[in-house]
Amino acid sequence: MTVNADISRTRLPIMRVQNVTKTFSTISAGRRTHLTAVDQLDFTIAAGETIALVGESGSGKSTAAKCVADLLAPTEGTISMDGAPTIRPGRRARRRDHRRVQLVFQDPNGSLDPRQTVRQVLEEPLRNFFGNNRGELRRRVRELLADVELDESLLNRRPRELSGGQKQRLGLARALAVEPEIIVLDEPTASLDVSTRGQMLALLERVQRHTDVAYLLVSHDLAVVQSLADRVLVMYLGSIIESGPTDRVFTNPQHPYTKALIEAAPKMEYRALRSAWRLDGEIPSPTDRPSGCLLTNRCPVVQPDCHAQRPPLVAVDADHLSACIHPELLSAPSMDARTAS
Ligand SMILES: Nc1ncnc2c1ncn2[C@@H]1O[C@H](COP(=O)(O)OP(=O)(O)OP(=O)(O)O)[C@@H](O)[C@H]1O
Ligand SMILES: [Mg+2]
Repeated sequence: MTVNADISRTRLPIMRVQNVTKTFSTISAGRRTHLTAVDQLDFTIAAGETIALVGESGSGKSTAAKCVADLLAPTEGTISMDGAPTIRPGRRARRRDHRRVQLVFQDPNGSLDPRQTVRQVLEEPLRNFFGNNRGELRRRVRELLADVELDESLLNRRPRELSGGQKQRLGLARALAVEPEIIVLDEPTASLDVSTRGQMLALLERVQRHTDVAYLLVSHDLAVVQSLADRVLVMYLGSIIESGPTDRVFTNPQHPYTKALIEAAPKMEYRALRSAWRLDGEIPSPTDRPSGCLLTNRCPVVQPDCHAQRPPLVAVDADHLSACIHPELLSAPSMDARTAS
């Protein structure tokens, strides 16, 4: 993990996400309101690295992932590849960039055409990008099946004749068909049972080693994030509130939200952290985000100055950023006194 994080620092980013904001307008209680799904996201992705987006439901992970994959146009901000802006507000990216960034969905049933055979699913993107040579198409299809460890005997089957794990592999093969530089994985293992999940994770790692593809991984499962991701971006109510190398963020969280998220996660290695650290109350509505620190209504150690303004992300050490202005209170003795009572 650490090795890859070091690599990412020395490699040039292939994608730069700058100041990306996405607002939706919705009708609530008969009135039109604006909802901020993601707010001023800034991050980079280097070749061959895995970046994870984590955070509670509704924190904006899928919206961010869709902006990166160009399925949603940001309201503000730019996304550049190799220094050239490809995605700007109100402008669709060029088709070339769809090739460079592919998406694998959580639910393979919703993203595979039930009428297509495995061969057709894979030939379609190959034809679009590499032309119509029959021999070449057949060769590439066989290669892709081998890449995701699917048997050639499945070529004439349709999605309903495949297991959940096989469908998810097919979705990955289809994404790999166009030789992308980045694959966005939105909850790639959520629909799989535990043993199939482990195999899928191992496969994702092998594919990355062979192709140097970068992953933007969205996952609720911190154990999955811990095993795959070099860096993690923790989102809360549309904002990144902490980011850094996965091992450092998970062993030494610098934001009360991250600390609570880790301690609430089942099966995490970092049991030493466990200390009855809990958030109070409910996540506010994204139509009504607090003006100071986003966590003020839930934070166990909130201070008067936390309400004053939205704290920016600042470096706690190289590559590890946090938006909490009172990190010293994360291990405060008063906290233990409070939870003990
Ligand atoms: N098309 C849309 N129109 C209006 N609001 C939307 C739309 N898409 C997302 N939202 C809202 O934006 C916010 C962020 O949603 P998003 O799906 O990105 O969250 P998420 O972190 O992926 O959540 P989950 O973990 O449940 O998948 C939510 O409040 C959601 O209701
Ligand atoms: Mg989502």
